[in-house]
Amino acid sequence: MNRRKFIQNTAITGAGIATGVSAISCKEGESKTSETKKTTITSISKPNYISISTWNTESANTASGELLAKGKSALDAIIDGVAVEEANEENTTVGIGATPDREGNVTLDACVMSPDGDYGAVLAVENIVHVAALARKVMEETPHVIMASKGAEEFAYSQGFKKEKLLTPASEKAWKEWLKTSNYQPAINVENHDTIGMLAMDTSGEIAGVCTTSGLGYKMKGRVGDSPIIGAGLFVDDEVGAAVATGMGEEVLKTVGSFLVVELMRNGMSPQKACEEAIHRIVKKGDRYKDFQVAYIAMNKKGETGSYAIHEGFTMMKYQDGKSENINSDYFNKA
Ligand code: GLY
Repeated sequence: MNRRKFIQNTAITGAGIATGVSAISCKEGESKTSETKKTTITSISKPNYISISTWNTESANTASGELLAKGKSALDAIIDGVAVEEANEENTTVGIGATPDREGNVTLDACVMSPDGDYGAVLAVENIVHVAALARKVMEETPHVIMASKGAEEFAYSQGFKKEKLLTPASEKAWKEWLKTSNYQPAINVENHDTIGMLAMDTSGEIAGVCTTSGLGYKMKGRVGDSPIIGAGLFVDDEVGAAVATGMGEEVLKTVGSFLVVELMRNGMSPQKACEEAIHRIVKKGDRYKDFQVAYIAMNKKGETGSYAIHEGFTMMKYQDGKSENINSDYFNKA
């Protein structure tokens, strides 16, 4: 490990003063206390690298973590990480096999932010599986930051992306079943999945983030949620940290949630407290929160992480220095 890395990775959090109090007997019936001070140096190591993601996305997050372990950049790791779920037909909330809108069109949204604060997004894209990688292309290969719909799709082909049918026999069958009632009622925890958001810090300490989604199942044609919108679904500031959202995008948009989490961390809150405060901004508006889920995950430059949701059931994957964990998130609605 070089000197720069060593200094980065070893955060001396302070010289803790441990105070021991001992009683010294002086005379019978009389005692006096004497303070003995022991100085301990508490050294908390920053992780060498870390990847966190929303929901139980172990394969995707482990893929990202293993790339980080090999020294890949945070940006490379997260794009390849979420690609695992985008290609997973059984995941009905991202990529191929995702739940369509109410007219049977699968339209995908994604966005990415790099450590240098650059941003790229695509929204309402059809026929392209790896929309997170496409968002990266918008960021790196165009003078723009957002591309939508047919224009984004045409740009994808120009960059070598394949045209693929996203509506699978299984998602088509489920949509036809839904059509029988057309009852629009987004579930609180969509089969324990929703938007996949992923944040990573690489071995050089740089942070990047991504999110990819098909949005709400059976949404209105043309509906776009928080995921491709900078500051709402995702925000990264490499001086401070990063946050990403999942759940009811309309509510995240109205509170510019991910930007809020990062700004709260900038002002000194831990990632955990910042996620909690962002959820409180939503639930304090009234009782409607009882019908929808929103959750945030966040990390700061020290490699500390946090997560918080409105309702029980949200989990965060964490891969840190070779170890993968699925963490049950704390939540607001304990009534
Ligand atoms: N959070 C994903 C969406 O609402 O579209």
